[in-house]
Amino acid sequence: MTSNNIHADKILILDFGSQTTQLIARRVRELGVYCEIYNPDVSDQQIVDFNPKGIILSGGPASVTTYHNKSNEKVDTAPDIVFKLNCPVLGICYGMQTMAMQLGGHVESSGHREFGDSPVEFTGHSALFESIENNTNVWMSHGDKVTKLPSDFVIIGVSQNAPIAAMAHKSKPYYGLQFHPEVTHTKKGTMMLSNFITKICGCASVWTASNIIEDAVVAIRKQVGDEHVLLGLSGGVDSTVLAVLLQKAIGKNLFCVLVDNGLLRLNEVEQVTKNLKNICNLNLTVIDAKQQFLQALKNINDPEQKRKVIGKVFIDVFVEAANKISINNNIKWLAQGTIYPDVIESAGSKTGKASVIKSHHNVGGLPEKLPFKLLEPFKELFKDEIRKIGAKLGLSHDVIYRHPFPGPGLAVRILGEVKEQYLEILKKADQIFIETLKEYDWYDKTSQAFVVFMPVKSVAVLGDARSYEYVVALRSVSTEDFMSANWSQLPYELLAKASNRITNEVPGISRVVYDVSSKPPSTIEWE
Ligand code: XMP
Repeated sequence: MTSNNIHADKILILDFGSQTTQLIARRVRELGVYCEIYNPDVSDQQIVDFNPKGIILSGGPASVTTYHNKSNEKVDTAPDIVFKLNCPVLGICYGMQTMAMQLGGHVESSGHREFGDSPVEFTGHSALFESIENNTNVWMSHGDKVTKLPSDFVIIGVSQNAPIAAMAHKSKPYYGLQFHPEVTHTKKGTMMLSNFITKICGCASVWTASNIIEDAVVAIRKQVGDEHVLLGLSGGVDSTVLAVLLQKAIGKNLFCVLVDNGLLRLNEVEQVTKNLKNICNLNLTVIDAKQQFLQALKNINDPEQKRKVIGKVFIDVFVEAANKISINNNIKWLAQGTIYPDVIESAGSKTGKASVIKSHHNVGGLPEKLPFKLLEPFKELFKDEIRKIGAKLGLSHDVIYRHPFPGPGLAVRILGEVKEQYLEILKKADQIFIETLKEYDWYDKTSQAFVVFMPVKSVAVLGDARSYEYVVALRSVSTEDFMSANWSQLPYELLAKASNRITNEVPGISRVVYDVSSKPPSTIEWE
């Protein structure tokens, strides 16, 4: 074990369905404290076993004033045990309202929905607002409000539309906030959360990148022993950081495979190999399977069909490679870069919430049929934590902040059938667009950017001659979670430069268009 037990002080977050529940969890982690998100129907025993030092009740879209929702299901409340554990509880928005109702107060739907920036005045002394001035701005988003305090509670904050904007129990560590301390619009939100977690709950700040690494190395060694581990590398941040961490933990017992399916970006295989070589001497096998993939994709136009074909070939190639490199058949583990949001969103999560993940997102994921045990050292981590670990392990900014790249690669960025000629054109155009974004300092300001190839021709004038060449679209989006996204409002000069360079430097393209669709309704990828 590490000198600091990073799981000793834990916060439990009950998720009532707010858009910002994961943000609450990330804020808690940023404060150096481990936390997990649970569904409100978690059993009493699970809560006791988790042994939280504090509990946060999230916001949520339902109304506690309607005992049943539209489908006649009972609306969620906090399990009674939450108020019997003698541990601090912080209710946020819906979380405050259910706390008030459950402890004997009253909540009403207000005719006026309060949304946005709102001034709040803190009244009286509360440990929650220590070191925060009495008047500050917070982010409100509620229709309901607490109209009668539960007994032994006092008002600690008022706003124009919510006379009970914040409340606290007189003697027990129970607090309720009508507003959202987790969003950056609440000026002193982080300070409030910090007061709750470190001062009121008394949690030590030990959840740091170096402690996580130290802890993971010990855990991986314990789990794996002398057995060998196989890791499929994609060059993306999760698998790259995982490779470096595993190398640190088990050294030569790690076997990495990078499948070159021909659908990667220009010079990507060389780049990924170089990045890793610079950091550590990985045992890396690059499998050239370009022709296998291209053959399998012949005459296939349908996007879902393409994904299925790629998934199948990938698995065949991967398993074949695994068998070849397995020394004395000792590869017993398959490492995967599953991260906490995947766990939350999967049916098997502790939250029990089974929101559907798109089938295509599993393309890169290998089937359970494989004869390996699964090693998932990141399944408790958020993406930003993986980036911090990557930085601590010495990976460069470029590697850590690379835009995500889909498993089926450029195949879903060529509309219809994938052909070698199209791939060649697309790779060059994509490279130019990314170079231009970097040149104008926009790469890090967008979440994902790429070029899409359209197998249609349009008329152009080249010199004095008429030409008839292909069209490409530039796509760039900004997003928090990739479930919804806005198209990036890139400067005209940047677009002009990218377009000029592409039409001048890439033979076969005579027209460049910019995709101005957001998600929904359009998806980020075109297929
Ligand atoms: P969409 O197109 O669904 O994309 O808005 C959302 C995010 O998911 C990525 N994506 C995929 N990733 N396999 C993957 O590993 C896939 O089949 C796939 N399809 C889309 C996409 O690049 C974006 O980041």
